[in-house]
Amino acid sequence: MKVIVLGADGYLGWPLSLRLMAKGHEVVGVDNFVTRKNVREVGSDSAIPIPEMAERIKAAKEVHGFKMKFHEGDITDYDFLHKVVKEEKPDTVVHFAETRSAPYSMINAKHASYTMTNNISGTLNLIYSIMEVNPLIHVVKMGTMGEYGTPNFDIPETAFVDVEINGKKDRITTPKFGGSWYHWSKVHDTNNILFANKVLKLTATDIMQGPVYGTRTTEITDERLHTRFDFDEVWGTVVNRFCVESVLGVPLTVYGSGEQIRGYLSLEDSIQALSLLIENPPERGEYRVANQFVELLSINNIAETVKKAAEKEGIKVNIGKYENPRVEADRHYYKPEIKVLPKLGFRPTLKMADLAGQLVKDLVPYKKHMAKFHDRILPYTNWRRTENTR
Ligand SMILES: NC(=O)c1ccc[n+]([C@@H]2O[C@H](COP(=O)([O-])OP(=O)(O)OC[C@H]3O[C@@H](n4cnc5c(N)ncnc54)[C@H](O)[C@@H]3O)[C@@H](O)[C@H]2O)c1
Repeated sequence: MKVIVLGADGYLGWPLSLRLMAKGHEVVGVDNFVTRKNVREVGSDSAIPIPEMAERIKAAKEVHGFKMKFHEGDITDYDFLHKVVKEEKPDTVVHFAETRSAPYSMINAKHASYTMTNNISGTLNLIYSIMEVNPLIHVVKMGTMGEYGTPNFDIPETAFVDVEINGKKDRITTPKFGGSWYHWSKVHDTNNILFANKVLKLTATDIMQGPVYGTRTTEITDERLHTRFDFDEVWGTVVNRFCVESVLGVPLTVYGSGEQIRGYLSLEDSIQALSLLIENPPERGEYRVANQFVELLSINNIAETVKKAAEKEGIKVNIGKYENPRVEADRHYYKPEIKVLPKLGFRPTLKMADLAGQLVKDLVPYKKHMAKFHDRILPYTNWRRTENTR
């Protein structure tokens, strides 16, 4: 299969590209390196330094014999994206090329607007490029479990639900309520993909993924093959951030009550799930939703797990309590459905409790590098403020 990976330089895009090549697929990467730039903008860097793309591709060839093609460019530029899709004639396009930080989108008006524009225009450009070049191309679009918010009902893994309002029945799109401008940009993407499916018969898998953690996948066997690993308050997702905090001796940044629950999964499991969804496309013209997570855990559960794992490695860890900079429910019901991936044969590998120790160990060699960005870890970006530039 020939797969274009939009966002191939990213945390998920790079390991997915390696996995697809390991499975014998042809991979064409696309990226404009904006995550590297935006992480530098907030005064931070990947905990694990990553080489430039040319060096990554060279390393993949030397270590595994993989041949990867790459186009540098911005997918909000329609002519660029259309040209790549036309030239490469893929079977599938994986779409990761979006800005993925909730706090970044909440910094101020400029960042909110950038997040919306980058994410929504890129997706629209992809829909149009596919429709113009070959409507049979399968789009694997990465959304987020955060699109659903934390409703007081079981979250269905469906595009539509049946409702009765004032005695009249109808079908409406599954209710969503994002918790940041970033999450709303993903909700708008979902609506746009659903509409493209309805009017243009776009074939799409819309993945609702929970936060991912980890440093490793089977193919990351050499220092030059590492994927990026963000940990500052703007770009770091919670588990990865806690592991860095353990190594640097920062009390783990539990926001609010710590009882907020989400569905988490390891990098290895995310890549396994993505490969299954790519290799098992939906029917032509079908819109498929896939919820993607492995364990439902509270922030307090995660803090305890990371503390225990780090202490086994001889690192003393304190758990901190911080006022929640976000506007979110502290205590809530949370029960998302997951049936698409298990049906395709998804079998999670290791749980967080088994992986956290290795993760912490993998970070220790980079302690000096991470320490340079020590002052970017504690929560600063506050949802209640309209200006959060330092
Ligand atoms: N990492 C997670 O825990 C997680 C969880 C749920 C969903 N997601 C989603 O998965 C996708 C990938 O996430 P990630 O963690 O790999 O993020 P990432 O920021 O590391 O990777 C995204 C890549 O896309 C590129 N990109 C962004 N806008 C672009 C544009 N306009 N043109 C070309 N390239 C562009 C970036 O430079 C980056 O390399 C994102 O859509 C994110 O919202 C991530």
